[in-house]
Amino acid sequence: MNPRQFYFDFTLMAKTTAPATFFERGVPLEDFWNNEYISKQMLQAHLDPNTDAASRKPETIRRSVDWIIDQAKLRPEHNLLDLGCGPGLYCTEFARRGYKRITGIDFSRRSIEYAREQAANNNLPIEYIHQNYLDMEYDNQFDVAMMIYCDFGVFSDVERDKVLKKVHRALKPGGLFIFDVCTQHNAEFVREFKDWTIYPERGFFSAGPHMELQNNVHYPEHNLVLDQYVILDQYGNTTIYNLWERYYSVKGLVDLLRPYGFQGVKLAGDLTGKEYTETSPFIAAIVKTLK
Ligand SMILES: C[S@@+](CC[C@H](N)C(=O)[O-])C[C@H]1O[C@@H](n2cnc3c(N)ncnc32)[C@H](O)[C@@H]1O
Repeated sequence: MNPRQFYFDFTLMAKTTAPATFFERGVPLEDFWNNEYISKQMLQAHLDPNTDAASRKPETIRRSVDWIIDQAKLRPEHNLLDLGCGPGLYCTEFARRGYKRITGIDFSRRSIEYAREQAANNNLPIEYIHQNYLDMEYDNQFDVAMMIYCDFGVFSDVERDKVLKKVHRALKPGGLFIFDVCTQHNAEFVREFKDWTIYPERGFFSAGPHMELQNNVHYPEHNLVLDQYVILDQYGNTTIYNLWERYYSVKGLVDLLRPYGFQGVKLAGDLTGKEYTETSPFIAAIVKTLK
């Protein structure tokens, strides 16, 4: 079709830009992270040492690994699981410090391929698995399971229930689940706005000319934020990415975890061990598995 000849379906547009049902995704999360074009931009962002956009900066990663080793009293023979490992920046850091039993899981094929290549080139003993960790089936196998950079906030109630049960099952008795979440003091994150941008050539979400409508909505009564991107291409196609993130309070987190058989060991303001205060943008949690 000649790109100049199409009709916008404004009925569809009105539907797609209406407030979404909670955790309705538009494009499924797995397809977002695995999208051939987007995953390329994402990998670049993960590997860019100057931004915290997809992974935290290298210095923060090193300090986080220091803190985790110290707090979890880790020894090189311990069995570590990194859920949503991305390109393996944390797994690599553990392996460089002599840890020998490391498993990273991610459903981004591009990230896992990059991570495997790095491990092979540097002779690092890391097993990378391309999988949705909601489908993992481990029993009493790991000393530590990590989920780093607020991924714990992206789940619907059903997914979160599944993750907590699977992580609990995967850990040995007394094993540790280490993760971080956003709080309501993450000002950038809970800021409501609508914005639009024209990309005459390409942008983050699409390789061709497109318009991006961004809609950030805060649902304070549900501790929930929607970061919605509606992409309109030159042929009139509409693609919606609904990125949901739930934020937590310390009490909310502790109350949530207890019935699943996790007991609080340590809370901090981030994974480098910064002190947690009432206005910290993050909570880092280390919880022990009771069995
Ligand atoms: C924000 S990134 C963080 C990556 C890494 N933890 C870090 O901090 O460098 C989230 C990662 O989790 C992965 N991910 C999200 N949900 C997942 C799932 N259900 N199963 C497997 N991987 C998942 C994404 O593909 C992405 O690589």
